[in-house]
Amino acid sequence: MTAKLIDGRAMAAEIKEGLKKKVLEMSGKGQNPGLAVVLVGSYPPSQAYVNMKERDAQEVGIASRTIRLPEETAQEELLGIIDGLNQDPQVDGILVQLPLPRHIDEERVIESIDPAKDVDCFHPYNVGRMMIGDSVVVPCTPMGCAVMLDNIGEPVEGKRAVVLGRSNIVGKPMALLLLQKNATVTICHSRTRDLKQVVKEADIVVAAIGVPEMITGDYLKSGCIVIDVGQTKLPDGRMVGDVHYQSASEVAGWITPVPGGVGPMTRAILMRNTVEAAQARRGIR
Ligand code: GUN
Repeated sequence: MTAKLIDGRAMAAEIKEGLKKKVLEMSGKGQNPGLAVVLVGSYPPSQAYVNMKERDAQEVGIASRTIRLPEETAQEELLGIIDGLNQDPQVDGILVQLPLPRHIDEERVIESIDPAKDVDCFHPYNVGRMMIGDSVVVPCTPMGCAVMLDNIGEPVEGKRAVVLGRSNIVGKPMALLLLQKNATVTICHSRTRDLKQVVKEADIVVAAIGVPEMITGDYLKSGCIVIDVGQTKLPDGRMVGDVHYQSASEVAGWITPVPGGVGPMTRAILMRNTVEAAQARRGIR
């Protein structure tokens, strides 16, 4: 079998086209959505992600502001900046790029963001709302994956889904979204025994482990759907996912490429979350 490509770039472009119209309409009424992105330090992947987020916001017409702070920024200073953004009526969405430098308490920072402006959906209040299926927004990467699944038109209900990775950013919320779509969900992690056998049972595999090209074709059930969240730049400059694309695409029915799969969708959903947060704050639904 040669897997069909799940084209994240094309799907993201379609989402952004729709958003452009919405943003134009809002701007016409003086209600232009605003996004503030905060980057502390110079971790190269984070710099690249933040630059791409800036570009996407510009493309959609969202007023974006990126605050770049030095690695040694004190936690109190960062909290003060977030407080300013919480109070700023022009700002509808606040995103603090993770990971933060080690001297900063990530949880404390996330909890300082106004939940109404938390476009990542990382604040414990929003995580709780999401758990009961009642949040305005959902974390960008899992939501991007869920939209991809919707778009390929393969039913999820009743299927076996395996999520590789249990992070708060991807694995846990991804499992929850698949559960909401009535999949039977298993979360695997570094301590999972017989990983290959577990993955082999899956109709849907979402890989978010951060180990480049770990999931090879022999892990997969014929015809399964593979969503690859991994993004690692190898020493030779190649960008690869957690899935070994070539061998996996010989077994799977559908597969996302890296790059051009989950990455663009994550950013498109961030733009959508920002517009939705802006609408919610203005009482537009
Ligand atoms: N770092 C890696 N992914 C993300 C994300 O989705 N949001 C934030 N804030 N930081 C990240």
